Amino acid sequence: MMKEVDYRGWANYIVLLMQVASGDSGRSKVKGKKLCEFACGTGNISLILSKLGYDVTGVDNSIDMLTVAGEKIRRRKSNMRIVHHDMVTYSSKESFDRAVCVYDSINYISSPDALGRFFRSVYTSLKPGGVFAFDASLESNSLGDSSLFVQRGKHRGIYYHRKSQYDPAAKTHTTYVRVKKDGCVAEEVHREYVYPPDLIRRLFSAAGFQERFAAGDFTMLEADSSSERVHFVLVKPEHD
Ligand SMILES: C[S@@+](CC[C@H](N)C(=O)[O-])C[C@H]1O[C@@H](n2cnc3c(N)ncnc32)[C@H](O)[C@@H]1O
Repeated sequence: MMKEVDYRGWANYIVLLMQVASGDSGRSKVKGKKLCEFACGTGNISLILSKLGYDVTGVDNSIDMLTVAGEKIRRRKSNMRIVHHDMVTYSSKESFDRAVCVYDSINYISSPDALGRFFRSVYTSLKPGGVFAFDASLESNSLGDSSLFVQRGKHRGIYYHRKSQYDPAAKTHTTYVRVKKDGCVAEEVHREYVYPPDLIRRLFSAAGFQERFAAGDFTMLEADSSSERVHFVLVKPEHD
């Protein structure tokens, strides 16, 4: 179901956002290589960033996702590290130069209070001057053509059926996934929470972050009310 996602393009876009935020020129070697991907999943983005020269630690609270990530790390002989932890409460002994959290992962955080705690965790994990790039799926994405939210098909011998529904009152987006292989059926429910950009801004500002910019939908243009996804780039100030 994820096969249509252009992870390489997404990783390059994040690198560009981080370079612009920290004033690196496109040609310079990566400055400040220690990077943490919060909610790294199976390592799609982390492994590319690792190949691009970052020293990557991936954090995720799903053992299943991390098991797949571990297999990919071994196969590709990557030196990326993985940590099983809730990103809302993660704290690390080492400090990072960069942090990223991509593909709607902050939408999995279930309350503004927890989102605020997450921003504080990222803030304390970063060195002064560190950059944090993350995206959030916005309401216009969830209100989009609902026919796009039903997917059925077969990929590598696995039949899948995925259905998404948005509840505008609760601002929750729920996705039901059913997969079948060799007669075995597995079902999952994913609930995402849609936060308005102003609330996200209040929460990361309260954690101490400064906003460098908020780009819309994989462009270098400022996100606006029609954007489906906003890509925030924040900086931890050099001095508190
Ligand atoms: C949509 S996936 C994105 C995965 C990965 N960033 C990618 O782009 O392939 C969302 C990920 O967030 C993780 N996640 C959700 N809530 C989390 C939490 N509180 N702490 C850590 N990981 C979490 C899930 O396990 C899942 O791997």
